[in-house]
Amino acid sequence: MDQITENAAILEWYLSVGVDEAIGDEPVDRFETSRRLAERAQAKAPQAPVAATSSALSPASPAPFHGAAPAARNAPAVNPALVENARAIAEACDDIATLEAAIRAFDGCPLKAGATHTVIADGIAGADLMLIGEAPGADEDRLGRPFVGRAGQLLDRMLAAIGRDRARDAYIANILFWRPPANRKPDPVETATCLPFVERLIHLSKPKVILLLGGTPASSLLGTSEGITRLRGRWHEWHGIPAMPTLHPAYLLRQPLAKREAWRDLLAVRRKLSGDKPSGEG
Ligand code: URA
Repeated sequence: MDQITENAAILEWYLSVGVDEAIGDEPVDRFETSRRLAERAQAKAPQAPVAATSSALSPASPAPFHGAAPAARNAPAVNPALVENARAIAEACDDIATLEAAIRAFDGCPLKAGATHTVIADGIAGADLMLIGEAPGADEDRLGRPFVGRAGQLLDRMLAAIGRDRARDAYIANILFWRPPANRKPDPVETATCLPFVERLIHLSKPKVILLLGGTPASSLLGTSEGITRLRGRWHEWHGIPAMPTLHPAYLLRQPLAKREAWRDLLAVRRKLSGDKPSGEG
């Protein structure tokens, strides 16, 4: 392989894993930076309480917040006061328009500063089917709507296969409202600060069935660290609402053979929405 072909292959691979922006010449280990900041803060003021509005990073390492999977080693620690603040704001919202305004005004998630748009939801609020994905990507950040890129187009085809259309009878949101740089996985601080708003969105939309797209929404909302391949294909419950974890459409684009598993999950969702009546889908 010549150098140009090799470089093109590397760039193509970066794109396929979501690295579509050059933001520095040298790699930065942000987990290490957060760890050092936390250590410094702890050395300076070991007894000092953490202000609710200053930062989501806590120098102490509290128990995992409500509904979250355990934080990864070296991951930034969650500030419970900040999460409580987010929850109080979210719970004070009695309708979706007020909640959306509150999310747009919320400055507690560090990702907001680097995002072009706040991406909240698409489709029909109040639809009996609600889908929760992970986080906006580059296309979603640019356009301000969830699932509008390649994964979104596949998701639309998946919905069409069970007779659904986001413009008519599905409501779609994500665990995060702002794009993580280079499409990396949400970290525990970002997830914890957005989760109260996502939960409120679900409560206010009152779906009959929730479809969880990938490991991030499944572990965040079901409060488990089990992987998506173990969680999918079985009914779980979120506050009494049946929830089906399935494979993320971006994963299905990379692993087309896994579409048959996702198809089984979609058929189960269709059956649940039709009152568990057999529908002859085979
Ligand atoms: N992937 C997601 O999880 N959400 C989006 O909105 C787009 C891609």
